[in-house]
Amino acid sequence: KAKGVSHITRCEIGDSLEEFLTKATPDKGLIRLLMSMGEALRTISFKVKTASCGGTQCVNSFGDEQLAVDLLANKLLFEALEYSHVCKYACSEENPELLDMGGPVEGGFSVAFDPLDGSSIVDTNFTVGTIFGVWPGDKLTGVSGRDQVAAAMGVMGPRTTYVIAVKGFPGTHEFLLLDEGKWQHVKETTEIGEGKLFSPGNLRATADNPNYDKLINYYVTEKYTLRYTGGMVPDVNQIIVKEKGIFTNVASPSAKAKLRLLFEVAPLGLLIENAGGYSTDGQQSVLDKVITNVDDRTQVAYGSKNEIIRVEETLYGSS
Ligand code: AHG
Ligand code: MN
Ligand code: MN
Ligand code: MN
Repeated sequence: KAKGVSHITRCEIGDSLEEFLTKATPDKGLIRLLMSMGEALRTISFKVKTASCGGTQCVNSFGDEQLAVDLLANKLLFEALEYSHVCKYACSEENPELLDMGGPVEGGFSVAFDPLDGSSIVDTNFTVGTIFGVWPGDKLTGVSGRDQVAAAMGVMGPRTTYVIAVKGFPGTHEFLLLDEGKWQHVKETTEIGEGKLFSPGNLRATADNPNYDKLINYYVTEKYTLRYTGGMVPDVNQIIVKEKGIFTNVASPSAKAKLRLLFEVAPLGLLIENAGGYSTDGQQSVLDKVITNVDDRTQVAYGSKNEIIRVEETLYGSS
């Protein structure tokens, strides 16, 4: 449980999303934005669950259009941001150019999102999700993950959850989508402890990154349990829910960094660090990396304190 935060109103498990947000932040605009994104996630979840898949494409109808679910999610999220009236700029993995959402700069926000992380595993019925980060004002470059005021992910598995971190409010909070369409607070994570659970991404990099190979061999020799889906959202969500573990996506000369700092890595960084976990690009917290370009890529690890120290020491010999 959170320590030293007695001056902050604690949230109760069972709260509605609005009740929780009212306790987490005095910023009415931010509450509006997170509520509005919740509406989009509810629709995306339904569309993913009812998509028809053929080949590697999964499509669902929306109005008169037939759209691949990742493009449909992209459209729904931009609409939700515009509807919130508090979003200035938004951009996504599918639309990297900043779009003006009509909200104010002063008191408003800019949002970056990955509409459907794991778009290549929708057809196999694995868990997929939406990732987004919220920055104050009108800047999504020249800022760092540390500047986010909130970050969240929608997790579309057998259950749909909305996992939220609000900067300055302790914990990372999980909301369950109920049958009647409401979000109910079901879990808070404030500490990520030690435990032998590993999620090793980009394993092909072990072929020409001997230090990554050494790290992976450590997990195997020490008999860690392998839990990896190939979707960052479920793989990182696992660490938050189980309150232990390590996720790695390390690069090499032939298997370069693929994950995007702005759309994926920084928002998940805030979710992990607010939950009491740690992140690294090998040398520093991913939250301290300045986003110079919307397309910046980075290697990343998320996990408990000791696991992140081990990653840094094994990859670069220091931490
Ligand atoms: P995308 O948003 O393009 O679907 O990204 C999926 C990412 C991430 O979720 C996962 O960890 C990684 O891709 C896996 O990459 P490979 O399948 O190339 O190993
Ligand atoms: Mn992605
Ligand atoms: Mn994507
Ligand atoms: Mn993609």
